[in-house]
Amino acid sequence: MLACVNTIAMEGVTAVPVEVEVDLSRGLPALSVVGLADEAVREAKDRIRAALKNSGFKLPTLRITVNLAPAHLPKVGSAYDLPMALGLLAAMEQLPDAALRGRLFLGELALDGRLKPIAGSLPAAIHARRAGFAEVIVPEANGLEAAFVEGVRVVAPATLSALIRHLLNVEPLPALPVTDWHRWVDEEKTPRRDLREVKGQEHARRALEVVAAGGHNLLMSGPPGSGKTLLAQCLPGILPPMTLDEALEVTTIHSVAGRLDPLRPFVGSRPFRSPHHTASQVALIGGGGHPRPGEVSLAHRGVLFLDEIPEFGRTALEVLREPLESGDVNISRALLSTRFPASFQLVAACNPCPCGYLGSPHRPCRCSPLRVEQYRSRLSGPLLDRIDLHVEVPAVPQEVLVAMAAGESSEAVAERVMAARQRQSQRNGAGVNNAHLDGRALEQNAPLTADGRALLLTAGQRLGFSARSHNRILKVARTVADLDGVDQIATIHLAEAIQYRVGGVFV
Ligand SMILES: Nc1ncnc2c1ncn2[C@@H]1O[C@H](COP(=O)(O)OP(=O)(O)OP(=O)(O)O)[C@@H](O)[C@H]1O
Ligand SMILES: [Mg+2]
Ligand SMILES: [Zn+2]
Repeated sequence: MLACVNTIAMEGVTAVPVEVEVDLSRGLPALSVVGLADEAVREAKDRIRAALKNSGFKLPTLRITVNLAPAHLPKVGSAYDLPMALGLLAAMEQLPDAALRGRLFLGELALDGRLKPIAGSLPAAIHARRAGFAEVIVPEANGLEAAFVEGVRVVAPATLSALIRHLLNVEPLPALPVTDWHRWVDEEKTPRRDLREVKGQEHARRALEVVAAGGHNLLMSGPPGSGKTLLAQCLPGILPPMTLDEALEVTTIHSVAGRLDPLRPFVGSRPFRSPHHTASQVALIGGGGHPRPGEVSLAHRGVLFLDEIPEFGRTALEVLREPLESGDVNISRALLSTRFPASFQLVAACNPCPCGYLGSPHRPCRCSPLRVEQYRSRLSGPLLDRIDLHVEVPAVPQEVLVAMAAGESSEAVAERVMAARQRQSQRNGAGVNNAHLDGRALEQNAPLTADGRALLLTAGQRLGFSARSHNRILKVARTVADLDGVDQIATIHLAEAIQYRVGGVFV
C-alpha cells in the first residue's frame, strides 16, 4: 500500500520535482513525515486530517508514513498538504494510482477542505510542461497564474472534494483556457506618476533622465516636501518598457513571493518598491524559513526607492552592496543557499540633517554639528560609492510652485532615454548599460580627449577623487554624451558628470 504523488519544491525561482510517497502499515496509528520537512509541513497532518474528514473520508487506524523525496531538498511551506492528502487517499485505495499519474499537484488545505492559494504556481506550471506532465492542479485562486503556460492542462478546483470527483472522472473539471495576459501589457504602459507633475527642479529632473538613460543609481538630498518622493516615482515611467521576457521573469519572482493579484497575476510595468526603513532585513533582502524573495528581488528590473536612507539599519544597507554589485542576492540558510535575481536601480533620498532644514533659506536648522555628522555617517563609503549621481533637491516655495508652468512629460523624456539606451547597446553590447561598465570596457567605451583628461585631473586634485570616483564620473559622462547623441565624451559632458559627483550632502 504505497502511493506516490508528484509535486515540486522551489529552488530560488525555479521549481524542481519532488515525490510524495505515502505508506500504510500495521502498528500504532500515527502519521509521520520524513524527508527534510519543515514545521509547516509537519503541521500539515492536522490540516489533512480535518480536510479529509470534512470531505467525507476517515483516516485509517494504521501507521502512516509520508516520505518527501529527494531527501536532501528542504521542503517548506504548506503546498504539500494537497499531494500528501491525495497520496493518503491512494494508499487507502480510495483513489486509483492511475488518477495520480501524469499529474502534478500543489495546494494548501483549509480545515473545511477548500484549497487555499500558494506561492509559485507559475514556475510549477513551467516545470510541469517541461517535465512532460499532462496536467497541473493548483488551487482555484492560482489558476489564472498557472494558465500562463501553454502546453500543459491547468485545472484549478475550489475544494478537495471537487478535485477528487475530477480525478475519479465522476465530474471532470475543464482545463482553464490559456490566460490572455497580453491585454495587461498595454494597460500597464501608462506610468503611475508623470514628470509633467513636477514643477521646476530642473537639475533633479535632468539627473533623473541621466539615471534612466545609463542605468545608474541616484541619491537625492533635500528638505521635507521638496519633491524627492515624487521624482523617484517618476523613474519607472521614463525607463524603456520591459520586454515580454523581462515581464515574465519579473512575474515569476512575484509568483514565488506569493504576491500576484489572483485576478490579474501579471507584472508588466517596471516595479517600484519603496520599503519603509523599519523593514526587517529578511523583508528587504529575502530569506526566512520559507525563503522568499525580498524587496530587492521584487524590485528586479525596476526601481528600489529607499526614502530616508540614513534611517535604514547599517547592516541592512551593507547587505545591499551584494545585489548592487552582482544583480542577484544569495540567501544562505542552514541547509541550502538560494539565489534570487535582484537587478534594480537604487534611488535613495535623505534630508540634509535630522531636522531636514540645514542650508534652507526658509527655516532654521535645529541640529548640532555633531548630530549632522552622525546622521551622515550612517551611510557607509562603499554604499555611497555605488551611487553614481548625488543631487540636491532644494525646496521650492509653494507660491512659486503655483505660478510655475507644468514640466515636460515623461513620454518626451522616455524617448531620449530610449535613444541613449540604444546607443549603449550598440556600443557596449546588447543590454549593457553604462552603469555596468568597468575596467577595460569602461576605458574602451569612454575614451577622453586630451582636454577631458586635463579637466578630470585638475578636478580630481582639487576635490580629492578616489579611483572609484574617477570611474563613476567616466560612466556618467558616457551617459551624458549618449543623451547628446555623440560618441566622443567632451568636456561639457565631463563637467556635468563631475557636478553629480560633488552634489548633495554626501561628498
Ligand atoms: N517640484 C514640485 N512640483 C510639483 N509638486 C511638488 C513639487 N515638490 C513637491 N511637490 C508636491 O509636494 C508634496 C510633497 O512632495 P514629496 O513627498 O515628493 O516630498 P519629499 O521631498 O519626498 O518630502 P519628504 O522629505 O518629507 O519625504 C507632494 O504632494 C508633491 O506632489
Ligand atoms: Mg518623501
Ligand atoms: Zn537640521
